Amino acid sequence: MLSGKRILLIIGGGIAAYKSLDLIRRLRAGGATVRCILTAGGGQFVTPLSVASLSGDKVYSELFDLMNEAEMGHIQLSRDADLLVVAPATADLMAKMAHGLCDDLATTALLATDKPVLIAPAMNVRMWGHAATQRNLATLRGDGVAVVGPNEGDMACGEYGPGRMAEPDEIVAAVISALSPPVKPLAGLRALVTSGPTHEPIDPVRYIANRSSGKQGFAIAAAAQAAGADVILVTGPVDLDDPAGVAVKHVESARDMLEQVEASLPVDIAIFAAAVADWRVANAGEQKLKKTAAGMPPLQLVENPDILATISKLSDKRPPLVIGFAAETEHLIDNARAKLARKGCDWIVANDVSPATGVMGGDRNTVHLLTRDGGAASTDIKVESWPVMGKEQVATELVARIASSLTGKTPEKTL
Ligand code: CTP
Repeated sequence: MLSGKRILLIIGGGIAAYKSLDLIRRLRAGGATVRCILTAGGGQFVTPLSVASLSGDKVYSELFDLMNEAEMGHIQLSRDADLLVVAPATADLMAKMAHGLCDDLATTALLATDKPVLIAPAMNVRMWGHAATQRNLATLRGDGVAVVGPNEGDMACGEYGPGRMAEPDEIVAAVISALSPPVKPLAGLRALVTSGPTHEPIDPVRYIANRSSGKQGFAIAAAAQAAGADVILVTGPVDLDDPAGVAVKHVESARDMLEQVEASLPVDIAIFAAAVADWRVANAGEQKLKKTAAGMPPLQLVENPDILATISKLSDKRPPLVIGFAAETEHLIDNARAKLARKGCDWIVANDVSPATGVMGGDRNTVHLLTRDGGAASTDIKVESWPVMGKEQVATELVARIASSLTGKTPEKTL
C-alpha cells in the first residue's frame, strides 16, 4: 500500500514520541521511505540515534544547518515528501501551524510545503479541550490538514480523557487514506438538503420554533459536498457556520423553505432533514401583541405546506432520489413506515427524538434506514438499524448509501 511513498515524519516534544519509533518501523514495513525531523522537544523524549537507526536515514533537527541550507534544505525536505506527518502533534506545534509561525526546522518545513499534511495530536486532556487548541484544530482542518486521533484513555500525566496520540496502526491507516486520491462518487450530481427548525411568526418579535439544531442536515450537506456533489442547503435559523463549498440559502418559515426548495430544482438527490413546523399562526400580529385585560390573544394555527410530500409528488421535477427523516418519540419503525408511504419519498431516515436520547441538539444519533428501491409505489420496504454514531458519521454513511444506490460507487472513508 505504501510502496514507493515518501513520508516526512515530524516528531514533536511529547511523551507519545516513543510511539513514533514504532510508527517509523510500521511505515517502512509497508514499503514507505521515512525521513524524520526531530524537534528540540522531541529530542527530549527519543534520541536522534534511535530515530536514525529505525528510519535508516540522517535525522534532521537544525534549521540553520549550513551544508543543507546551501541546498535549500528545509524547502527540499518538505517538497521531497509525498506526505508530511506530525506525530506527536503537540499543542504548541498545532498553534504554530495554525498561525503560520516558523521558528525551527519542523515549523518551517510545514509552512514551506506544498504536500498534504496529517497530524496526530497528543497532549494533556485540558490542553486538548482548551478553546485555543480547539480553535487551532478548526483552523487546521479548514486549511485541509488531516487529523487522526487523539484517543481517550489514561494519560501519562495521570489524568483521563481525550489526548492520547492515536496508535501507530491507526496512524498508518490514516497515512494510507491521506495518500489515496479522493473518490468523488457524487461528482456531477446536484443535491439539495433542508435543515434546522423553521420559525413561524406570532408577531414581529415572537415565533413558534422547535429544538432542532440543524447539525444533522449540515453534516449531510458537508458529506455530500465532500463526495463531489453540487450541494444546495436550505436551512432554517441555526447557530452553525455554513459548510465550506456549499450554496446555503437561509430561510425563516416553512413557506420560505418551500419556496427556496422549489427554486433549487431540478436536483438529483433531495434530503429533507429539516424539522419543519407543522403549523403556523394564521392571525400573526402585524405589531407586537400586547397583554390586555381580556387575557391571552387566541392564536389560530393553520397547517404548513408539507415540503417533503410536495416535492415527492411532483410529476415533472421530482428528484430521482427523495429522502425524508422521521423524528418520532414512540412506535419509531411503524410510524416511519407510515410516513414513507404517506409522503411518497424513496427512503426515510428514522430517529428517536425522545428527550432521553439527547438527539435534538446533541452530537449523536441512532438511526434506522427504511428504503424502498422499487419505486414510490413499491411496498417492499427494507429496514436497517445502524449503531449509535456521531451525526457526521451518520452523514458519511448515508452519503455512501446514496452513492452506491445512484452510481454503484462508494466514497472512501474520511479521516
Ligand atoms: N417535512 C416537511 N415539511 C413539513 C413537515 C415535515 O418537509 N411541513 C419533512 C421533514 O423534513 C422530514 C419529514 O417530513 O423529512 C418528516 O417530518 P416529521 O416532523 O417527522 O413528520 P411530520 O410530517 O411533521 O409528521 P408528524 O408530525 O405526524 O410526526
